[in-house]
Amino acid sequence: MSYDLDQFVSDCRTSLARDPGPRGREEVRLNLERLLANQDFVRQYCGDDVPQGLKLLYEDKDLGFQVLAHINDKARVSPPHDHGASWAIYGQATKYTDMIEWDRVDDAGDDKHAQLKPAKKYRLLPGHAGIYQDGKIHSIDYPDQARFVRVTGTNLDNIHRVRFDLKTGEVHRMTPQQAT
Ligand SMILES: [Fe+2]
Repeated sequence: MSYDLDQFVSDCRTSLARDPGPRGREEVRLNLERLLANQDFVRQYCGDDVPQGLKLLYEDKDLGFQVLAHINDKARVSPPHDHGASWAIYGQATKYTDMIEWDRVDDAGDDKHAQLKPAKKYRLLPGHAGIYQDGKIHSIDYPDQARFVRVTGTNLDNIHRVRFDLKTGEVHRMTPQQAT
């Protein structure tokens, strides 16, 4: 039997209950790749017939993590931003996502302005998953029709997040649902 959403969620619970740190998250990342290898899952949750938008597939009431399907229509480049105290794992379903991590090159003493430089960049192709650890400043860049499944450590709408304007260096608080 193929690896399905129920099995994935059950394994996430086991991994994150045992170790909510990088080791448990790495197990989640690897299992997300297993899930995305299941073409029935990809068709059902990220296929051509699935309406555009952000869909919550699962939320864990005890551990707080969420599994979301991002059914994108139009290409998008996100501004660099963080997820506050939450980590996020992105698993590509269709097309690709360029994943960029940024380092602050100022002393981070000013919470209104920041200077960033790209630290790491890689392309997620279908079936692959990548992780942004908690607090990591990152951005994503994807073409039309790119679809992915994202697992976050908690509901990002409930936590403080900031985004960075690369031109001006300004730091802005993010509103719920604003970016991924
Ligand atoms: Fe993000």
